[in-house]
Amino acid sequence: MRLMNEPSTELSALSTETRRFDPPTELAAHANVTADAYEDAAKDRLAFWEAQAGRLQWDRGWDRVLDWQPPFAKWFVGGELNASVNCLDRHVEAGLGDRVAYHWVGEPEGDRRTITYAELLAEVSKAANALTELGIVQGDRVCIYLPMIPEAAIAMLACARVGAAHSVVFGGFSAQALVDRITDADAKLVITADGGYRRGAPSALKPAVDEAVPQCPSVEHVVVVKRTGQDVAWTDKDLWWSDVVDRQPAVHQATSFDAENPLFLLYTSGTTGKPKGILHTTGGYLAQVAWTHWAVFDLKPETDVYWCTADVGWVTGHSYAVYGPLANAATSVLYEGTPDAGGRDRWWSVVEEFRVSILYTAPTAIRTFMKWGDELPGGHDLTSLRVLGSVGEPINPEAWIWYRDVIGGGRCPIVDTWWQTETGAMMISPLPGVTSCKPGSAMGPLPGIAVDVVNDDGDPKRAGFLTLNEPWPAMLRGIWGDEQRYRETYWSRFEGRYFAGDGAKWDDDDVLWLLGRVDDVMNVSGHRISTTEVESALVSHPSVAEAAVVGANDATTGQAIVAFVTVRGSVADDVSSGEAFAKELREHVAKEIGPIAKPRQILITPELPKTRSGKIMRRLLRDVAEHRELGDVTTLADPTVVNAINDKMGDASTED
Ligand code: WTA
Repeated sequence: MRLMNEPSTELSALSTETRRFDPPTELAAHANVTADAYEDAAKDRLAFWEAQAGRLQWDRGWDRVLDWQPPFAKWFVGGELNASVNCLDRHVEAGLGDRVAYHWVGEPEGDRRTITYAELLAEVSKAANALTELGIVQGDRVCIYLPMIPEAAIAMLACARVGAAHSVVFGGFSAQALVDRITDADAKLVITADGGYRRGAPSALKPAVDEAVPQCPSVEHVVVVKRTGQDVAWTDKDLWWSDVVDRQPAVHQATSFDAENPLFLLYTSGTTGKPKGILHTTGGYLAQVAWTHWAVFDLKPETDVYWCTADVGWVTGHSYAVYGPLANAATSVLYEGTPDAGGRDRWWSVVEEFRVSILYTAPTAIRTFMKWGDELPGGHDLTSLRVLGSVGEPINPEAWIWYRDVIGGGRCPIVDTWWQTETGAMMISPLPGVTSCKPGSAMGPLPGIAVDVVNDDGDPKRAGFLTLNEPWPAMLRGIWGDEQRYRETYWSRFEGRYFAGDGAKWDDDDVLWLLGRVDDVMNVSGHRISTTEVESALVSHPSVAEAAVVGANDATTGQAIVAFVTVRGSVADDVSSGEAFAKELREHVAKEIGPIAKPRQILITPELPKTRSGKIMRRLLRDVAEHRELGDVTTLADPTVVNAINDKMGDASTED
């Protein structure tokens, strides 16, 4: 294997980045975590994690901190706890029942719900009672397909409460994607809504469920939240949330579960077309998520108002919009809509309204706001902000500086947090009261985390592949139903090391730079999409013969999907060269996977460039897609193909 994404010119310039931004004095003086944490963890890593797990409420203490039979880890062996009790009951018992857990902001103007910890506990208890009535027991899987409404968090916590694993599927995924995920997880129940609000209009969700469920025999019931009030089709498996949940008692006696009881599955793209069900369990996950949320954001739960803008459909929404903040008794904002709903300054009016003090978002959003102009945030009072976070993809220094100056008023530290669906929690990040940050770098591993950058042979080097060389509490416990794939994907590339799929390098100051994916996974607006998945979607269209998909650099979304397609002989030239055809293919991909996977560009070409052994030359296609000078084409079976593709690039059909 070689680095497929060669560091771009910007990335190579990073090693010369000399600017440093020290922690604000005030913040450093009262920081939750000091530099001692690095020393403590270095001295005794397991004792360090044991101390962090001690921040949770356990109903039975663990017998052993770690049982490591590579590549299988068990953390806090023998310990028992309930994740929902840790997020709710214990805070209410501690007298925090009146503290706001969520300030929920619906997309339509003025749509608000304020939910205290006591109220959230009551709602989750009712939902847990409803799950029990519907026959959901420990060990079952429940699929959640909801917009960003409080019921999403309520449903997750209710599953956790009864020991069932949730599998949240992002609302932007198609019926087919839903079928694949429900089937793989063998889910008994689906929780959905009639629809949600998207860009000022109701957007239906239930039709996808209606299409999917008849193909999923494991599903016994579908519980439907009424959110938009739009018309819905109805089957005998369907039940309204209000009918089955509202009448339940608001008290639910939770039992505790083993530390290794599955908490959730979350599907993510891999290098093949089939998404992987990443399995997370309870104790280690919650311990690392709660500690990192408290440490990396320097959370002061009594006074901070925290806003993670991620959808619950992604891991960031799981770990840092639900489990982390609730385990820490934080007050969060939860927002249903898109950044431009009701005006391009919508986010900044939310920050102003709730006096948000910690904001956690993605570089793609930051770059979009940069494009929209400084006046929009400038028109709002953002002085409440004190810590800014970034996640999902490398943040370019320019966006980092803009985030710091324009959003953070030059006073807020930026924590650029590297982690993955698989890691469950943050792994590489500065600590806001300790680290002197370089713009664009996630700086280094958090206390208790061990990383190495290695070469092809697995030897530690200054630049190469990012690996994790010790198990960590929130690590994935496997790929659902596919032990072999788990071993192969993460543990076979380098002996004794977890291979993250990212390139990285240490600079001269021993600061770590993440260089993006090195495999066939694209990162579009912080969302992982595999090239193979999009290729299979394209090839499933009756007019398509072959497809090759690459992620090309994009100023806003990080990477953008560019597809090269050859059509079947039966398709007439004037049809395949038309804009309507490209549009049809794009819609086809949206239907197969979801709108997030729609290619930005589709190029119809007579041939795809292949090596003599028939392998598609993706690097070359990426060069074409990025209008770069072409690399070495000598291994190309038919070099003229490149010219044909380049000619096409001029009049390629582009989506804005
Ligand atoms: C990328 C999201 C650079 C990386 C939490 C990783 C990042 C993938 C960063 C995981 C960051 C995430 N800097 N790259 N701060 N954060 N990535 O599973 O390529 O959706 O492998 O988890 O996003 O994406 P996932």
